[in-house]
Amino acid sequence: MSNWATVVLAAGQGKRMRSSVPKVLHKVCGKEMVRHVVDAVRETQGGPVVLVVAPGANEVRQCLGDGVRYAVQEQPEDKPPGTGHALMQAETLLRGKATHVLVLMGDTPLVQSATLKRLMAQHEDSGAVATLLTSDLVPPAGLGHIKRDKESRRILAIVEEMDATEEERAIREINGGMYCFRADWLWPALHRLLPSRSGELYLTDLVAMAVRDGLLVGNVASTEEMEIFGVNTRIQLAQAEKAMRERILNHWMEAGVTVIDPASTYVDAGVAIGPDTVLYPNTTLAGRTTIGERCTVGPNALIYDSSVGDDCKVVASMLEQVVLESRVDVGPFSHLRPGAVIERDVHIGNFAEVKNSRLGQGTKMGHFSYMGDAQVGRNVNIGAGAITCNFDGEKKNPTEIGDDVFIGSDTMLVAPVKVGPRSATGAGAVVNKDVPPDSLAVGIPARIRGRSGKVETNDS
Ligand code: UD1
Ligand code: CA
Repeated sequence: MSNWATVVLAAGQGKRMRSSVPKVLHKVCGKEMVRHVVDAVRETQGGPVVLVVAPGANEVRQCLGDGVRYAVQEQPEDKPPGTGHALMQAETLLRGKATHVLVLMGDTPLVQSATLKRLMAQHEDSGAVATLLTSDLVPPAGLGHIKRDKESRRILAIVEEMDATEEERAIREINGGMYCFRADWLWPALHRLLPSRSGELYLTDLVAMAVRDGLLVGNVASTEEMEIFGVNTRIQLAQAEKAMRERILNHWMEAGVTVIDPASTYVDAGVAIGPDTVLYPNTTLAGRTTIGERCTVGPNALIYDSSVGDDCKVVASMLEQVVLESRVDVGPFSHLRPGAVIERDVHIGNFAEVKNSRLGQGTKMGHFSYMGDAQVGRNVNIGAGAITCNFDGEKKNPTEIGDDVFIGSDTMLVAPVKVGPRSATGAGAVVNKDVPPDSLAVGIPARIRGRSGKVETNDS
């Protein structure tokens, strides 16, 4: 038997979100709320995780995969089952498997592992049957209020807002919705819950039950205002996003990143940034993006799922699923699309588009150009307005450009086509046949001139 197991409740309908997406899959800083919760648990000794989900819930299963186990909570049409009923669904998977059970909600994305560790440690040390995370740092309306004995200050019950008296509603100490329970007491106790006035089985009623059983209920007070914040509405979703954004930016600033204007800088939870990088305003770093050291990013940069090396500069440009090696500069106003691999010391200027292409070390692509499905060698100069005509109306065709090639302004490279190393194309050339190494291609359609300067045709 392991020491801990964790249950995350995520079967609620989330009606107040008015969404076809399950509530716990709404994202906060690019990551689903329930994943924030499960990831926080992973950093503790929380043991195996059971997620309580609604029937079907395929999207939730897809999101979290096999890393957690699933218990299904049936959802009767007429009455809401409640958090106590939800927790009960994990019993078959966990009874006899752990000494303590950590219970969390799937809609509190700002939960911090350090707080969970504190909660779990106190629970183990105190011998309490239940230990709650409480807070008096938030407006108490809508939350469960902690009722204490007037003299001993011992916890007596959690009173839900709708069942609370005027006096109870004034209590500022509230239930954060994160709990530790001793398993041998918890599982049978759940079966003793009685429906609340709303018909729901409240998990929170376990507290009064423990007190009636003469057992100790403890608490740990949260020290950060937002960590217990639960998301029930889209407005709260935006509030959680703001708090998470601040937390993420503070983390990176403490790690040596300069953020010129945190209010207009958006960094997702899965992003990593090296020290001495500077983020300028209106920058979004999203998905699985990593940024190296000493980069400058923005203003107005959008970088999704990309890897940017050290000493790069990205100004007013969009990158998606792209690799930049080191000392690359991009922009303003360029778009690097999926599959672009840009080797070190490449310069990409304005109005450039690169898709599914590699640009070799030291290549320059300064102005108004498009490389699609192209393998471009080292130290190539791509002139203003040069493009790959990679699509023939049916399929995408490849272009290959060797090292040290000079592509003249406005060259059309009609793929499939190859330009050999050290060759050049003249301004406005329409290259629809392969160009051998060390040659010059000029005209429409392009004819090849060898080194002798003699005109040759490709097909002669
Ligand atoms: C709950 C607590 C309240 C606490 C607050 C903290 C209860 C009765 N109340 O209220 O004391 O202050 O959290 O945020 O527990 N869920 C299910 N199945 C259900 C109902 C809910 O899985 O039948 C899940 C939801 O998906 C959600 C979580 O449980 O992730 C909490 O449910 P919610 O309805 O949001 O509870 P609150 O009203 O916020
Ligand atoms: Ca909630």
